[in-house]
Amino acid sequence: MILTTELPAHAGAIERLLDTAFGPKRKAKTVYRLRRGVAPVADLCMVALDEEAPGYSAAQPRLVASIRYWPVMAADGTMTLMLGPIAVAEDYRSAGLGGQLIRASLARAEALGYASVLLVGDAPYYNRFGFTRRPVLGLKLPGPVELDRFLGLEFIPGSLSKAHGMLGRAPTRTAAPAVTAEAPTAETGVAKLVRPRRRAVR
Ligand SMILES: CC(C)(COP(=O)(O)OP(=O)(O)OC[C@H]1O[C@@H](n2cnc3c(N)ncnc32)[C@H](O)[C@@H]1OP(=O)(O)O)[C@@H](O)C(=O)NCCC(=O)NCCS
Repeated sequence: MILTTELPAHAGAIERLLDTAFGPKRKAKTVYRLRRGVAPVADLCMVALDEEAPGYSAAQPRLVASIRYWPVMAADGTMTLMLGPIAVAEDYRSAGLGGQLIRASLARAEALGYASVLLVGDAPYYNRFGFTRRPVLGLKLPGPVELDRFLGLEFIPGSLSKAHGMLGRAPTRTAAPAVTAEAPTAETGVAKLVRPRRRAVR
């Protein structure tokens, strides 16, 4: 299994994975209002590829999981990231893949200098990665959402909890801030995990 940066060539398989996981009405959800017309954060969007899946190969591996991030901005100007969607193919679930993708991409986000991440998802799943309600108590989403599913995580204490107001779309940063250290890979447990790289060089 390879966890690596999403490439443009993965887009079709990701759409099919997301349609299967969330259903065709997924784009009506409030979070999609924050994604519309905005590019995801390429450095943080990752996929899991299985080269050994039956009928697939190293040249044409099966895409079995995807995680994406979008930039968002609070009314007070605070910039943050929104995690999601994340999906793992049904026959690959409960094997730790989702957790590996979340931990690996969060490590990248922190290493690239992002201060915080928020999401809308099931607290019993995301609590284990450090997401709680507390950092987002001052923030609002532009549409209906179950509040106990609106969660945040701070890499820099106070960076999100001091933010307030409505969340809106934000421009995608084209160049990541300078990074002096490799994004931590040890905690991912994935031997072939590659470090963040720009789409153009791959
Ligand atoms: C959520 C999802 C990404 C997790 O991927 P995964 O590879 O199965 O995750 P992991 O193997 O790291 O973790 C699996 C554990 O999380 C639990 N879990 C999965 N989804 C959960 C949820 N929504 N709430 C609580 N626990 C959940 C599983 O029961 C499993 O527990 P176990 O280890 O005790 O068996 C995957 O189930 C999926 O794609 N679901 C459909 C799409 C979706 O709901 N995405 C998240 C939107 S909030």
